[in-house]
Parts: sequence; C-alpha cells; structure tokens
Amino acid sequence: MQYYRVLHLDDLHLGQGHRIDLDGHAILLTKLAGTPLAIDDACPRDGASLSAGRIEELPDDGTEAQVGFVTCASDGVRISLHDGSVDGSADERVPVYATRLTADSWVEVEVPGPGA
Ligand code: FES
Repeated sequence: MQYYRVLHLDDLHLGQGHRIDLDGHAILLTKLAGTPLAIDDACPRDGASLSAGRIEELPDDGTEAQVGFVTCASDGVRISLHDGSVDGSADERVPVYATRLTADSWVEVEVPGPGA
C-alpha cells in the first residue's frame, strides 16, 4: 500500500469528478464537504467510467447527514462514494481508496499496488 500525491484540494470542485490513474488503478476522485473521496472509476454493471457520472449529496435515510453518491452516466446506477455500495444490490461493491490531506492541503490517495 502506498499513498500518492495527486491534486491540491483547491483543484477539486464540489460535484466534479476527476479520473486519475495510479499504479494501474483508474480512480474517480472528488470532494464533498471539504473531504476528498476516491473510488474505482469503473461501474460494476458494464464498466462505464464513473467520473463521467453525476456526483451529488443526498440526505441519508432517517438522519440529517448528507451522503455522497455518483450516478453512472450510462444506465443510472447510484453508487456510494463513501463505501462503494451499489443501490439496490447487496452483492456489488465498488472498491474504495483511502485518502488523506497533507498539512498544505494536497490530496493523497492510497492504492494497494500495481493492478491489485
Ligand atoms: S455501466 Fe453503469 S449502469 Fe450501466
């Protein structure tokens, strides 16, 4: 596992997805509520790039919390940006990558190694 510095936090805009390629992993990187979030950039259905999808925060069921989702631009499947869960499916899950911020607000993403 290794962290890679990818973008400055100021270059990530609310609701905008960035595709980054790290060590053989295609990753969707975005920012919600000031926090960078990273998941695999491939829809589990037919592999469409999730960075082309719609990113939004929606109220969590039963709480006041806002939860981030990306909606696949291909056929509209909604995927959690927090845990990679897929709406309406207990079996599918998109890999999620840990992120962290440096003291000077650079975003770093952890990947497990080439193609792992
Ligand atoms: S490829 Fe994502 S819903 Fe079809």
